Amino acid sequence: MPARDGARNMSSEKPDFKLGVRLATIPEGRGLLGTVGEEEVLLVRRGAQLFAVGARCTHYHGPLAEGLVIGDEVRCPWHHACFSLRTGEALRAPAFDPVPCWRVEQAGEKVFVKEKLQPAGSDPLSQSTPPSSIVIIGGGAAGLAAADMLRRKGYSGGVTMLSADSAPPCDRPNLSKDFLAGTAPDDWIPLRPPDWYSQHKINLVLNSRAVALDTKQKKITTEDGKTYDYGALLLATGADPVKLPLEGASPSQTFYLRSFADSKAIIAKAASAKRVVVVGASFIGLEVAASLRARSIDVQVVAPEKFPMEKILGPQVGAFIRHLHESHGVVFYLGETVKLVDGNKVTLTGGQTIQAEFIVLGVGVRPALALAEQAGLKMDRGILVDEYLQTSAPGVFAAGDTARWPDPRTGEPVRVEHWVVAERQGQTAAKNMLGAREKFAGVPFFWSQHYDIAINYVGHAEKWDSIHVDGDIEKKDCAVTYKRDGRTLAVVTIFRDLESLSVESEMERQVRNP
Ligand SMILES: Cc1cc2nc3c(=O)[nH]c(=O)nc-3n(C[C@H](O)[C@H](O)[C@H](O)COP(=O)(O)OP(=O)(O)OC[C@H]3O[C@@H](n4cnc5c(N)ncnc54)[C@H](O)[C@@H]3O)c2cc1C
Ligand code: FES
Repeated sequence: MPARDGARNMSSEKPDFKLGVRLATIPEGRGLLGTVGEEEVLLVRRGAQLFAVGARCTHYHGPLAEGLVIGDEVRCPWHHACFSLRTGEALRAPAFDPVPCWRVEQAGEKVFVKEKLQPAGSDPLSQSTPPSSIVIIGGGAAGLAAADMLRRKGYSGGVTMLSADSAPPCDRPNLSKDFLAGTAPDDWIPLRPPDWYSQHKINLVLNSRAVALDTKQKKITTEDGKTYDYGALLLATGADPVKLPLEGASPSQTFYLRSFADSKAIIAKAASAKRVVVVGASFIGLEVAASLRARSIDVQVVAPEKFPMEKILGPQVGAFIRHLHESHGVVFYLGETVKLVDGNKVTLTGGQTIQAEFIVLGVGVRPALALAEQAGLKMDRGILVDEYLQTSAPGVFAAGDTARWPDPRTGEPVRVEHWVVAERQGQTAAKNMLGAREKFAGVPFFWSQHYDIAINYVGHAEKWDSIHVDGDIEKKDCAVTYKRDGRTLAVVTIFRDLESLSVESEMERQVRNP
């Protein structure tokens, strides 16, 4: 799995925990990094309790020693996965697999890490009448996370995952980052190995688009005429790229990016091209720009806004992102759109003509709502769900890019398009299908990667009336706070991972104790 550039290196002078360390050297709340044999171990002190767990996150190997300890959990600094210090369980996505745990022994003032413990597994959810079978529509972030959680929680009924994709659930964020840049091989992309589905008795049906849903008969019909009955259902159909017709452009020169196949098609085209026009200066467009620069393609970004990503991050961060990309050779045409394409000539609305063999469009996505609309579910620019992620139809849940849920911090219904949110909603929906009645109170979080810079975003701010910058954006050391009526709605950080985790934790605390 890829390591994130720019992460601080951990000290090479790591204590050997088998030989013991002094109790006083283990800092409360952060933990001490050391080794047991060949393995890196994090030793954590919580008052009188001591825990030893694997020091690398099972998502992308983030350094847990640089993360945040909250209660008996440790959170990863990179993408905020959360692990139990007691059992090692990955309690929150984007990690699914546990970290190992070791037995700890204290002798006077010295602490020793002893043998590795057997994985404890997750506490099963016991329900008197679990659903007879569960169908998940969508083989993406939310769908896979739900399937994983159903089995983790001991659900033994049938689980079917219907996916319109031709590929099993994949690490979608990577498709515009390392994979597109050529630094992640194909086999990093599937979220689970091929035999995982059969091992967990998950009936994954690919190339299978659901076209009709009857919530009274509890029946789904797919494009090929097959029908599936369900006891409980999760709608996790995600989103589709917005298609922008470009006058004169041929299908063989225009590309969108959502699926593994899309990313491979761009890579294949880039192999014989020198120049690209990227239409759109938001996350996907600019990640594509960065990745294609890594392939030495001349990148020209055309977008109507004044600053890249201005709508979501404001002008200050937008200006920084522009400079960052320009320093890597990207040329921007802002305040413009494409007027006409004629072969390799791309004419802009301002009249200028630029050259490109191909065009990648990243102009936003639209939630995939056709099925929910056909089924007559309550909608509001997304599928409306309650705090348990249940739709207006009993036994039917929705998660991910399609779901609009009540944000407990503001009371407003929100819908976001973030990987971690989709996965965490999938996990909560799965538990609720088994009767857990868990409210989805997760604080939205996303990250975006541009060259060696990761931008982390916590919270949700569609509109703000002030932006406060702490630190220096250009020096890549900052926390940017977006406020409305004096209230912090969201915080962007660059190389302040711990602060990002602290903000998330504080926002969660506000939900618990408003
Ligand atoms: C290239 C790229 C990079 C991204 N990078 C980031 C990032 O860095 N950070 C971040 O937070 N977010 C990122 N995102 C956004 C993130 O991937 C999405 O928010 C997330 O995938 C949403 O999960 P989901 O389960 O709702 O939908 P998806 O992951 O899109 O999965 C939806 C699934 O449903 C299937 N489907 C749709 N309709 C039907 C139907 N009728 N029947 C059967 N199956 C159906 C689709 O084929 C697909 O398998 C990125 C997205 C893309 C495309
Ligand atoms: S590396 Fe830990 S959450 Fe991604």
